[in-house]
Amino acid sequence: MSSQKRYLVKFLPGGESVKVPHGYNLRQAILDCKLNIDSSCGGVGTCGRCRVQVLEGEVDTTESRFISKSDKEKGFVLSCMSRVKSDLTVRLPEARKSRGSITIGGFDSTGKDYAGISTDELSKVEIEPWIIKENITVEAPSLSYGTSDLYRVKKSIMEKTGVQDPAIPIDLIRKLPYTLREKDLNVSVIIDLENSAVIDISPGHGDKRIYGMALDIGTTTLVMYLVDLQSGKILDIQSGYNPQIKYGEDIINRIVYANRKGGLEHLREVIVDSINSMVKNLVKHTGVKESDIVSVMIAGNPTMMHLFYGVPPRFIREEPYVTVANRFSNSPAKDVGIGQLVNAYVYCVPGVASYLGGDITSGVLASGMYREEELALFLDLGTNGELVVGNSQWMMGCSCSAGPAFEGGGVNCGMRASEGAIEKVVIDEDSFKCSVDVIGEGKPAGICGSGLIDIIGEMYLKGVIDRKGKFNRDIGNEFLACEEGDCHYIIVEANSSATGNDIYISEIDIENLIRAKAAVYAGIRTLLEEVDLGINDLAKIYIAGGLGKHLNIRNAVMIGMLPDISLDRYHFLGNTAVTGAYLSLLSAEKYRQSVKVAGDITYIELSVNMKFMDRYVAGLFLPYTDMKDFPSVEEHIYSIYKKPGPAGPGKKDKTS
Ligand code: FES
Repeated sequence: MSSQKRYLVKFLPGGESVKVPHGYNLRQAILDCKLNIDSSCGGVGTCGRCRVQVLEGEVDTTESRFISKSDKEKGFVLSCMSRVKSDLTVRLPEARKSRGSITIGGFDSTGKDYAGISTDELSKVEIEPWIIKENITVEAPSLSYGTSDLYRVKKSIMEKTGVQDPAIPIDLIRKLPYTLREKDLNVSVIIDLENSAVIDISPGHGDKRIYGMALDIGTTTLVMYLVDLQSGKILDIQSGYNPQIKYGEDIINRIVYANRKGGLEHLREVIVDSINSMVKNLVKHTGVKESDIVSVMIAGNPTMMHLFYGVPPRFIREEPYVTVANRFSNSPAKDVGIGQLVNAYVYCVPGVASYLGGDITSGVLASGMYREEELALFLDLGTNGELVVGNSQWMMGCSCSAGPAFEGGGVNCGMRASEGAIEKVVIDEDSFKCSVDVIGEGKPAGICGSGLIDIIGEMYLKGVIDRKGKFNRDIGNEFLACEEGDCHYIIVEANSSATGNDIYISEIDIENLIRAKAAVYAGIRTLLEEVDLGINDLAKIYIAGGLGKHLNIRNAVMIGMLPDISLDRYHFLGNTAVTGAYLSLLSAEKYRQSVKVAGDITYIELSVNMKFMDRYVAGLFLPYTDMKDFPSVEEHIYSIYKKPGPAGPGKKDKTS
């Protein structure tokens, strides 16, 4: 019997190889070798991130707008759209190092973290541990006092802590007779006071110090704090990229992958593996014993939480868009795959609805807006824009799908905010040459979200594009390269880039970015209109999320993404998801408050909201169809060009 011919596919620069059958998907071959490949769209050919260069051999590939004619001649293909036809040698893009400063904020000298929380709110936080360890001595039984071991343990716990009839899991009861008698009825007990539950009973009296972990499972990044539960001190932090990225960069693509056979188990496995290695590193760096870690508090968006718990997320993206749960049950760590934490329970910050999760509840908690009189808007900017508006009386929230453009997806030269990403751009108004600031020390490799917002803002201001985002072709811009009617603007020339290729922005890229910014602004306006309020009613706007930290607010206003109000009303909060989890871990009051906040937010679904659609369409101009919504931008444009310019500023009249 003849077996099907298999081809050897070798990947450079590392030399890894795999044998695959004829027609095998090239991106899958990369993943089979456990190599990384950016795959924002999950492998359906729409993000352009999985480009590779075929150096030797033949593939059957589908034409793509992400591969220019000249790149095609050099052997570039989208790996997800290519099938193996012979032995191959393929060069992968250089792995980008993860950025050291994933948004986690800084520490003061005491180790207390100030990230993701307003200073005002921080001063109100009281450490009030709700998981404690107590040494107790259980009464001895006798012929005249023949009550059960369980009864006497519960009685001692009640006397020491005030907790009536705590729940004790069966596995602890099984060991109870020996645990009690090993050290003459002296035991130490870990108790969850808020849920009246015993987490562990161990023989003898011991050190009462215990620790907890706050974990943010973001679509892009993971951040974990190891916290001393008595002092509130953050002992160490681990952060990294979510390993599920290679199976789809945004939540929709993750859900699609989870729906495939074995997909959910696979996504769960990779995230749990990552969490376990973060735990291992924290324990190693701090010397804290795994057995002294008693709680893990997780905040994440609904899809990430479903994937972590191994619950199918499918119905989050199918009308009427519901979650399986907004708050998952408290579980022993070993039951959810974190087996090394033998004495810990895993808790989660409750979410609100299908696209508004515990990460946003955490953000509202960290901002303190839920306890203030004045009206505030909380905005988490990432792959999705998530918003909550309100105050201590009421809160309303929504989520608008901005797409992955602000994280560099769907943009030819886009990349995440990591080493080599252009994060700031200024255009010279005479020569149209770009000056760029890059993350890290090296040459520019691509453009991240904040850089893209700067570029759009600068191009609009300097007349490189008009209000529809189309290039002004008659302004003598020598950095505008046109091929068969398609133009792109060169930000960094090939000889100055890390990749050896031009870094540029095309009209399609601009279109994607304008769509993303239109969705965010439409979300804000629609939410406010639902409660008959206007932009000027907002006393504060809190910006959270990875993009927030590097965002130039003025440019975000200039392109019509954020409301045109005084810049001093904007406050950056960094990663509020992990901060909210940290607060819930440390303070019983915050833990209770997180449940209340999640319950108090009214969710509105924008995908079926006509006002949102109208606002969105109006936002497909720079900054907006009606310039009256952006008075300071209108004034600025007028001061430069002496005309409002309905078709865009155009080339500045240098004689005026
Ligand atoms: S285009 Fe290939 S993964 Fe997105």
